[in-house]
Amino acid sequence: MANIAVIGAGYVGLTVGASLAHLGHDVTIADIDETKVELLKAGKIPLFEIGLSELVADNVRNKNLKFVVGASNASSAAEFHFLCLPTPPNLDGSTDMGYFDSAINEIEKVMKPGSILVNKSTLPVGTAARLQDRINRNDIQVVSNPEFLSEGNALHDFLHPSRIVIGAASAETAARVAELYANIDAPVLITDTASAELIKHTSNAFLAMKLTFVNEIATLCELVGADIIDVAQGIGYDPRIGSSYLKPGPGWGGSCFPKDSASLLQTAQNAGFDFEFLEKAIKLNQEHLKRTAQKVLDVFPSLKEFQDGTIAVWGLTFKAGTDDLRSSPSLVVIEHLLDKGARICAYDPMVHELLPQLDGVTIANDPYAAVEGANALVILTEWEEFSTLNFEKIKKLMKSPTIIDARNILQRSEIEAYGFDYVGMGR
Ligand code: UGA
Repeated sequence: MANIAVIGAGYVGLTVGASLAHLGHDVTIADIDETKVELLKAGKIPLFEIGLSELVADNVRNKNLKFVVGASNASSAAEFHFLCLPTPPNLDGSTDMGYFDSAINEIEKVMKPGSILVNKSTLPVGTAARLQDRINRNDIQVVSNPEFLSEGNALHDFLHPSRIVIGAASAETAARVAELYANIDAPVLITDTASAELIKHTSNAFLAMKLTFVNEIATLCELVGADIIDVAQGIGYDPRIGSSYLKPGPGWGGSCFPKDSASLLQTAQNAGFDFEFLEKAIKLNQEHLKRTAQKVLDVFPSLKEFQDGTIAVWGLTFKAGTDDLRSSPSLVVIEHLLDKGARICAYDPMVHELLPQLDGVTIANDPYAAVEGANALVILTEWEEFSTLNFEKIKKLMKSPTIIDARNILQRSEIEAYGFDYVGMGR
């Protein structure tokens, strides 16, 4: 079993660290944020991911998971250094490498000879090769081992992955990293570092383009009188298309797809390739988010009535099963509505305080309070609890019974039977 340093205690670092400890490795997770490390040491997880707090607690108890402040405190004894740091986008779509640079500055000199630096975060193609040149240590190998963790399902995705991708300059280095995952049953693909980095970006960009396509077909369904649920099921039976990732929504978002597709576009531009297909998919998604907001405006007879009314919103996180609001489609749709002068009261099971980025939006503590006196209800995140509420009560609470279901989580016939006007996506 290996001694592993995980640098960064965010979604990825905590999931990776706790899971590697669960596999039997000796893991130390480091973060620069002292308060966060203190919280973790006290057994409190500063974010929501299903099963994560239990897995952390189990491994802390078993003494194979520790938390420290500062990367060098974790790295000096480690054979592997997993970099799980934020890679936020710059304004031009390129990746801000500031967190990486400072962590590497810190650990560069303390890393044990022969240890391996593993890039787990999503990084632009060419980063591993650049870091290899930069670290100035011939005895350290830099490897790309991208994560394919979907928030809300991250632990399962780590322990039962569809594949393990390891990009390394030598077969021997790749084999040492592969050995860490020996107890996991999954295909292991060993590549050069650039290919591993491109696999990660291509996976996310491909999924994002798939969703753009589905959202476009949903719009077409509305125009020709077809139902996207049936169309998606019909195409999904074809194994070449696949039945997952075919649900239309308000537009895609989250901490990964927007950032990773912008970064891939930037990589293409830097390489002198005009990746028009991906660029168009990103633009179409932005238009789709606007179109979702327009659906809400369209249920009001006039802009004045829209501005005089109140809109209830259910769902703020970028998808169900997470507390993550980063690049949430809900927030983008709400911003479009606010621009048109909307008054909004929102409810989300994971959000209990006013959001600085949504000035003017009232936050309700339960879904019923959010709809009180509302002229329309918009569902923007697919939380399961939204489909099991008392719609008779909801109808009584609302001023006018109109529901715009941007996730198609409700049954149209049932909702209409309660006397609601129902607007779905692509139906
Ligand atoms: C995504 C990928 O799914 C992971 O494989 C990847 O590892 C991760 O990014 C990452 O790069 O770290 P995540 O961002 O957690 O995971 O979210 P997804 O579940 O992929 O959802 C992304 C967006 O697509 C959300 O806005 C979601 O609501 C939307 N979506 C997803 C749909 O609108 N319809 C669908 O059928 C599926």
